[in-house]
Amino acid sequence: MTKSVLTAVAWPYANGPRHIGHVAGFGVPSDVFARYQRMAGADVLMISGTDEHGTPLLVQAEKEGVSVQELADRYNRQIVTDLAGLGLSYDLFTRTTTRNHYAVVQELFRGLYDNGYMLKETTMGAISPSTGRTLPDRYIEGTCPICGADGARGDQCDACGNQLDPADLINPVSKINGETPKFIETEHFLLDLPSLAEALRVWLQGREDWRPNVLKFSLNLLDDLRPRAMTRDIDWGVPIPIEGWQDNNAKKLYVWFDAVVGYLSASIEWAYRSGDPEAWKRFWTAETAQSFYFMGKDNITFHSQIWPAELLGYRGEGAKGGEAGEFGELQLPTEVVSSEYLTMSGSKFSSSKGVVIYVKDFLADFGPDPLRYFIATAGPENTDTDFTWDEFVRRVNNELANGWGNLVSRTVAMAAKNFGAVPAPGELSEADQKLLDLAENAFAVVGEHLEHSRFKAGITHAMHVVGECNAYLGEQEPWHLAKDPEQKERLATVLWVALQVISDANTLLTPYLPSTAQKVHETLGRTGVWAAMPKVVEVSDDMPVEPVGVGVPEKGRTYPVIMGDYQAGQAHWGRTPMVAGVELSKPKPLIQKLDPELGETGPEWAPVQRDEA
Ligand code: MF3
Ligand code: ZN
Repeated sequence: MTKSVLTAVAWPYANGPRHIGHVAGFGVPSDVFARYQRMAGADVLMISGTDEHGTPLLVQAEKEGVSVQELADRYNRQIVTDLAGLGLSYDLFTRTTTRNHYAVVQELFRGLYDNGYMLKETTMGAISPSTGRTLPDRYIEGTCPICGADGARGDQCDACGNQLDPADLINPVSKINGETPKFIETEHFLLDLPSLAEALRVWLQGREDWRPNVLKFSLNLLDDLRPRAMTRDIDWGVPIPIEGWQDNNAKKLYVWFDAVVGYLSASIEWAYRSGDPEAWKRFWTAETAQSFYFMGKDNITFHSQIWPAELLGYRGEGAKGGEAGEFGELQLPTEVVSSEYLTMSGSKFSSSKGVVIYVKDFLADFGPDPLRYFIATAGPENTDTDFTWDEFVRRVNNELANGWGNLVSRTVAMAAKNFGAVPAPGELSEADQKLLDLAENAFAVVGEHLEHSRFKAGITHAMHVVGECNAYLGEQEPWHLAKDPEQKERLATVLWVALQVISDANTLLTPYLPSTAQKVHETLGRTGVWAAMPKVVEVSDDMPVEPVGVGVPEKGRTYPVIMGDYQAGQAHWGRTPMVAGVELSKPKPLIQKLDPELGETGPEWAPVQRDEA
């Protein structure tokens, strides 16, 4: 039976262009995973979209002096362009301001409410004394009441990982204008996490395969579970689908309540757009369905606690019981895969700190694969890592261009010159067989790494095959064999072996470097699509759903989505035999070498900043 693998990718806020730190966390790892799974024969659904509610958007819209909708439209389009340009193979990349998303979110909320997991309570909400407006949790900072760290936010302390309420902070200040917030009484719906705690614990304790840091962090969260507000005093968001609340434009659902439901709503939208409206179920309600969630570490809480709690409550599986709503028994995450941070010379990538490398600029100058390569080999898989231009240039030039690109080019060039085609091998020597075995065996080794999201180990082994092939050519010296007519058969054998191993290495590298893989495929004399690429398509908000309340998006709006026919690619996990006689011609350059000076200076749009000596 084909296994269903939901690849759920964190939704970037549409409050600005995305930088390379973002795509290092959620983008590249998820795409490597999804592409590998498809190549290995799994039924994959990879979904995400832009996260367009919440105060991050409100604050930015105010800064830019535009409406929130205008801001969301602009950055949604920009982010779609960037992520497609990076080759991320979403089956659907949509947005949270669709009517379908509103309707699905409201169904989840109603299900939780009906089962008793939404508590109506009077809480203390922060407002700005100068404007009288609600202050969002994330924009209040102070000292953590639990660990004493400074710079804790109103929703969470990054130092100890605990969830907070703004009213808990010691010496709270507004990040927007530095004033001390005022706390007033306000009524909200709280997710009853304590009554879901036991179910959460049982689920989490069964998760053995997770990265240890993610599992430990998630288990720790269970020790201090309090009900958490899932509504906000804000006029931008999904209406609360309860009589007496839905028409109150001053209260909406909390952005994190709606954003995580996006995984489900995007799956439903994908099914609708693919012509089989029920197709999402095989990724959500089939008991064998697997789901992998990809994100940066500041998102773990919401994926290993809030989202599973929403799902358990919706299924009626907390201490209060209940029944599953109309979507049925939605499956909890199989794994939450989280990356650490990509920093640039010590400071966390953050649009507010001035050291930002935008995906758009990066793609314009270098194309997608150099960045994908850097993230896979030197990214923040298990620890925070630093991006430096120096290391980027070194890796692209030494490993990608000299190690890989050159191997392909010189081998194909020699075969083309001497035979005009893939030569037929003679008898194989021990060295030939050894290299062929290493390459064939690598499918199991790299595949095992990718099954477990060990992306760095996977590409390291793939590049080891490349390195061994280079070493083999160094020993066999086909350029000498080519000068001796008596060695023609040995030359044919050596080149055939090298071409076969190059073909294997290219397959192993395809999840990481899909654009380059397509070029190598053609360089090897093959035709058609090898690694399919995403496309940006303009669609209309026209699904037959009726969300309720004020401020629901209007019908018929058009927006760009990322989709793709990834089955069209021939790429599959395993050896593609090198067939003698396939015509070869002089190869075109594969990987652009970078000017070493770039390592010292950085590009104009992100220059290396040196301390004044
Ligand atoms: N927008 C959030 C962030 O950038 C991520 C949301 S992930 C989601 O941190 F799944 F909840 F949408
Ligand atoms: Zn703390």
